[in-house]
Amino acid sequence: MTRYAQIKTELLSSPKTWLVTGVAGFIGSNLLEHLLKLNQKVVGLDNFATGHQHNLDEVKGLVTSEQWQGFNFVEGDIRNYQDCETVLANNGNGVDYVLHQAALGSVPRSIADPLTTNAANISGFLNMLQAAKEANVKSFTYAASSSTYGDHPALPKVEENIGNPLSPYAVTKYVNEVYAGVYAKTYGFKAIGLRYFNVFGQRQDPNGAYAAVIPKWTADMIKGEDVFINGDGETSRDFCFIENTVQMNILAATAEDKAKDNVYNVAVGDRTTLNDLYKSIQSALKECNINATQDPIYRDFRAGDVRHSQADVSKAVNNLGYVPEYKIIQGISKVMPWYVKFIR
Ligand SMILES: NC(=O)c1ccc[n+]([C@@H]2O[C@H](COP(=O)([O-])OP(=O)(O)OC[C@H]3O[C@@H](n4cnc5c(N)ncnc54)[C@H](O)[C@@H]3O)[C@@H](O)[C@H]2O)c1
Repeated sequence: MTRYAQIKTELLSSPKTWLVTGVAGFIGSNLLEHLLKLNQKVVGLDNFATGHQHNLDEVKGLVTSEQWQGFNFVEGDIRNYQDCETVLANNGNGVDYVLHQAALGSVPRSIADPLTTNAANISGFLNMLQAAKEANVKSFTYAASSSTYGDHPALPKVEENIGNPLSPYAVTKYVNEVYAGVYAKTYGFKAIGLRYFNVFGQRQDPNGAYAAVIPKWTADMIKGEDVFINGDGETSRDFCFIENTVQMNILAATAEDKAKDNVYNVAVGDRTTLNDLYKSIQSALKECNINATQDPIYRDFRAGDVRHSQADVSKAVNNLGYVPEYKIIQGISKVMPWYVKFIR
């Protein structure tokens, strides 16, 4: 039995209370769905900066009404310390585990507006970290990022070897790690950072200027619109299906003390070029009877983008018992029917 299967059995028999920040977003709403299906109590915080009510409505339709009763949503902003305090005091019985996802994602957004990204991703992060320490939660797991590897050339990426950040967004995610380390040393409050590598899956927003590559291309292909590749298409990423990411959050939240005060790569350990990704999405859409035959249009490389990215996930495997269940192709096949339904 994997550690994940074992933890899920334990949670089912002894439900806990979780705080998911950024709960109306892509990753947050998937965490919510999985936790409610495990009969957990979930407090959710979001200010709808990039999250959507329709994500929460969709989760409501995927769980039983009894499970949905276990969810308490608070509209609030992590940039307000009081909102962070309030949400942790919620329910009267206190929060056991914090999964801090709220932040402004996207490298280009951070280049266009570094101040707003800084406020949410650094001040907001610090507010949540401090409030969680004060509330004496059992664990604090936060969304870090593979962007922290910056200009370090080595592949695959190993947690200990990072380079210089290439964007304001990367700075914010690195500062999160620095603060988490300082809280461990200064207060003995040991967080776990999860360096996500290009997560994708259902409810990832295909709309807006800062949409991620898989939802953006998928939506454009379904609509028969032009699809753009930034650069020559040989840029590569370790695309990670959402189910693997959910697994890592649950494993991290429930980890033993010695695994804490650490950061972990969250990915598969594979590397896929944008050109190959393009073909994979085309053929998965074909399975859904969508003939997206257009060729991609190549344009300039995007500022701040890392050229290649691939994770070494052995630290998560060894310390947390992580077993990635989905490779990119399986994830792509699983998510396409959702996009076809969502876009049409
Ligand atoms: N998706 C990825 O590939 C990826 C990769 C690396 C890191 N991450 C990180 O994972 C986390 C979740 O990302 P996502 O892809 O689900 O993005 P998302 O935009 O779908 O979700 C982020 C959520 O945070 C909320 N939020 C933003 N600012 C807030 C604030 N000030 N107060 C309260 N809520 C706020 C948004 O409204 C949104 O619902 C983020 O921290 C992101 O930086 C994501």
